[in-house]
Amino acid sequence: MSGRLRLGVNIDHVATIRNARGGAHPDPARAAEIAAAAGADGITIHLREDRRHIRDGDLEAIRTASSLPINLEMAATQEMTAIACGFRPHAACIVPEKREERTTEGGLDVAGLHNQISPIVRQLRDAGARVSLFIEPDPVQIAVAEVLGAPVVELHTGRYAELWIDGGAEAAAPELARLQAAADEARKRGIEPHAGHGLTFDNVGPVAAIPEIAELNIGHFIIGEAIFIGLEEAIREMRRLMDDARNQVSA
Ligand code: PXP
Repeated sequence: MSGRLRLGVNIDHVATIRNARGGAHPDPARAAEIAAAAGADGITIHLREDRRHIRDGDLEAIRTASSLPINLEMAATQEMTAIACGFRPHAACIVPEKREERTTEGGLDVAGLHNQISPIVRQLRDAGARVSLFIEPDPVQIAVAEVLGAPVVELHTGRYAELWIDGGAEAAAPELARLQAAADEARKRGIEPHAGHGLTFDNVGPVAAIPEIAELNIGHFIIGEAIFIGLEEAIREMRRLMDDARNQVSA
């Protein structure tokens, strides 16, 4: 359980910068190649309904450029399910999606949307994808994830990250406890917990130290930091901070 904590690098915002000028630079496929060289364990991409960052043509280009497994984030819609089943990523993470939001705000209400999500989970599993549900660290959502047959849940760390901005580790401590409890609950139910959203060099340590968590997916901060120190270095530093936090727990 407490093996090496995996890092999935979300490269969506390389495409955001590319799209700002409408050309081909910077190329997210090149970012995927660099991520592999820098020690990432996976590439995460979110094909949004409005294609504001990654576009359909990027999917195959990214797969070709990098040997890493792809985690495709997707809304629970027929369009995205058809694309995911055709693309057959290693993993598919179902996320809530609203057109007007700036980023994925809050987890998917799998309890409320059970009937909509259930057939999608089945289709994705039949297509060979490891299905993950992006949820709040809430025991009810985890219980429903088990009923839905999801092998993975990704715990939303957005609230933790916001509290950290407001008041550092002390302010974020109650939410960290909620993440720990949710990771325990997932493991008890045979589900592999992942986590992500809003993680940075400053706040990643305590989440990385939760031994039940197997993978972190991190995007915006890494791509932003890459502007200053380069993508390879930003990924290496995140990897180092995650490994240090995890090693301290197992020491
Ligand atoms: N995990 C999921 C499911 C996401 O949707 C996102 C991006 O919205 C992330 C992780 C990464 O979040 P961030 O870009 O804030 O690191």
